[in-house]
Order: sequence, then C-alpha cells, then structure tokens
Amino acid sequence: MNNFTLNTPTKILFGKGQIAELGREIPADARILITYGGGSIKKNGVLDQVRAALTGRTVFEFGGIEPNPTFETLMKAVEVVKAEQVDFLLAVGGGSVADGTKFIAAAARYDAAEDPWEILLTRGAKVKAAVKMGVVLTLPATGSESNNGAVISRQATGDKLPFFSAHTYPVFAVLDPVTTYSLPARQVANGVVDAFVHTVEQYLTYPAEGRIQDRFAEGILLTLIEEGPRALAEPENYDVRANVMWSATQALNGLIGAGVPQDWATHMIGHELTAMHGLDHAQTLAVVLPSVLAYKKEQKRAKLLQYADRVWGLRDGSEEQRIDGAIAATRAFFEQLGVGTRLSAYGLDGSTIPALIAKLEEHGGTALGEHQDVRLDDSRRILEAAR
Ligand code: NZQ
Ligand code: ZN
Repeated sequence: MNNFTLNTPTKILFGKGQIAELGREIPADARILITYGGGSIKKNGVLDQVRAALTGRTVFEFGGIEPNPTFETLMKAVEVVKAEQVDFLLAVGGGSVADGTKFIAAAARYDAAEDPWEILLTRGAKVKAAVKMGVVLTLPATGSESNNGAVISRQATGDKLPFFSAHTYPVFAVLDPVTTYSLPARQVANGVVDAFVHTVEQYLTYPAEGRIQDRFAEGILLTLIEEGPRALAEPENYDVRANVMWSATQALNGLIGAGVPQDWATHMIGHELTAMHGLDHAQTLAVVLPSVLAYKKEQKRAKLLQYADRVWGLRDGSEEQRIDGAIAATRAFFEQLGVGTRLSAYGLDGSTIPALIAKLEEHGGTALGEHQDVRLDDSRRILEAAR
C-alpha cells in the first residue's frame, strides 16, 4: 500500500429533516449567499426548507448556475460576493452548483492573477484562500459535497477543466435522501453511473495491496448495482435513496483512493466530450469507460479478474472470458439504467475525434492512466472503439 495523508474535513448531516439543522453550522453573524441552479429547488420545496432554516439571518440568493457550470455565470456571483461582503456560501443543488460555488469561493479571494480563469489553468495551485462554504446536496453523483475538487467550463473557448484546493472543502454537507425524490430518471441514472465510474477509476488499476480500499470499493459497486435500478423503479423508497446517496459520497471523498493507484483517463477524455458536444457528464463516462477497460485489458488484467469475480460473480471460463464478461456486464449495467454506451447513441459518428484529441492535448491530457501511458494516440483509439 502506498503512503497517504487523508483529510476528510467535511461534516456530514445525513438523513430526513437534516436541512432544518443547518443554521447551527453557519456563524450567526455570517453574510450568507445561497447559490443554486435552474430552479429545481424551488419546485421541490428544498429552497423553502433552507430559507426556513436561516430565518432571521442575513441571506442573499444567486440562481442560474447551469449544469457543467460556466465561468461566465460564476463570475457574476463573484461580483455579488464582493458587493455584499458575503462571507459564507451555501450551495443548494447537484454537483454543478457545488462545483460552481467552490469556484466562486476561490475566485472571490484570488489575487494571484487579474483573471481568475488562471485558477483552472493552474489546477488550483495558487489558491491561498476561499470563502467558507456548505452544501445541501440534491443529486447524489459527484462526491463534490465532501471533496475539494470542482470542474468548470468556459463557454467562450469550449474548455472544461478541473481544479483542487485545500481551501475548497465544504465545511459541512447536508444529505437528505428525500430531496432526491424529485430527480428525473435521467439524472438518477447519471448519478449512479458517475459514482460507479469514480469507484472503478480508483479500483481497476493494478494490485497494490490496498485490501481495505478494494473491499470498500467492491462494496460501493455492489450497492450501486443493487440499488441503482431500484432507485429508478421505486423513486420514493427512502432506504434505496439513502444507500445511493451515501455510495456516491463515499465513492469520491478520498477514502477508497487513499494509498492506491488511480486512473482518471475516462474522466479526462469524457470532459472533452461534454465541452465539445454537451453530453451529460455521466453519459461521457458510460461511453468511454468500457472502451478504456477493453483497451487496457493487459495492464489491468489482475484487477479485472478480481472485479469479474467479486463484483459480477464470474468464476467460470477462461481468464479472457471472465474479463470480457466483466466489461460486457459493466456496459449492460449502464444500458439497463438507460445511459447509452456508444457515441452513436448521442448522434456522434466519430468525425470529431481528431478535434477532441486536439483539445485533450491543449489541456495537457497527454499521459493519462495509472501508468501515465495513455498517450494521445491511445485516447484516439479508445474513442474510435467507442463509436
Ligand atoms: O439546475 P437545477 O434546476 O437544480 O436542475 C438540476 C440539473 O438540471 C437537476 N437537479 C438536481 N437536483 C435535482 C434536480 N432536479 C430535480 N430534483 C432534484 N433534487 O439535475 C440536473 C443536473 O445537475 P448537475 O448538478 O449538473 O448534475 P451532477 O450532480 O451530475 O453534476 C455534474 C457536474 O459535476 C462535475 C461534472 O463534470 C459536471 O460538471 N463533476 C464534479 C466532480 C467533483 N467536484 O468531484 C467529480 C465528477 O467527476 C464530475 O466531473
Ligand atoms: Zn465524475
């Protein structure tokens, strides 16, 4: 097992009714900005619950953060933070609102450069401070509610880039599974796929004697396989929603990735598909992951066999058959959830692959994977095999 330092400082308030408790987590004299997306929190009553929990406090609101949050929109919120001297941000929504709020938090305190887009270009390395923030999560998927990462898009240039900073961990996250009842089926499925792929990318590399990490990862994968389809079939089953929500948080709060190799090739290639073609984040992962696993079969052989055995129960047949069976089962699981696993499912014929690879190069994605051996030509082949 590799050495690691693990810090998961986000306090979790989990369960029914927990939104009512969030006022205690924010200093009494704070000037609070609630940030949200396109309005789902108005329709499902979550905004009313948040307002009620903050009765008597100084509260401003900023709505309109879009899925795959844009620099252009977020900079308007940075102006509000500065003008109103906001000192606490409360993100209410899915991963896009949480991520966008991390950017607002960092950009409002950024003085390393005139243009805060530099935060993305330097992947957060020069962020020295951020406004404190909390999250009320309404879409289990990204893990953003308890990690320090964010992915921000820039419309003007078609870029989608991540940044990370020790200053952008949410102070707390409220996870009330009831808030997820109103999710459209597409977003429920997206969330399950995203959490599944986060787990796979920290698990399906090469053996590193991270036995606890492996067993935790397998537990998350098995839970998502069992509960993901049930969340679609029984939208108001509280325990199903609770298990999906907790799985997604655990998948990307740092725990299962500590001390083991990681492979983020699927995510990096996937971000280019979203930036150029607007696919949902999870749709890109469902397209790219099966193709990456097939392409890297030899390097991933030992873990693919473990995955086949422990996650899919494939114990008969040759090694080749078990590996192919596990990759096919992964694809079938995504399809069962209604998330297409081929570029063609999204009307793409592969003609933009050269342009996607050029963008990947521009963004420094030239040596991906756990061995940093997924070069541009490999990413091109991975995308071609995903047509
Ligand atoms: O905008 P509103 O009206 O709120 O509607 C949203 C949005 O249209 C809707 N929604 C959210 N909660 C709902 C709801 N609708 C009804 N009921 C609810 N309870 O769902 C739509 C999608 O929301 P979004 O936040 O975009 O989805 P998700 O949580 O999947 O976030 C995706 C973003 O996170 C980034 C992705 O790249 C993408 O930009 N990621 C962030 C990561 C991180 N910070 O660690 C890691 C991930 O790999 C990912 O890259
Ligand atoms: Zn993701």
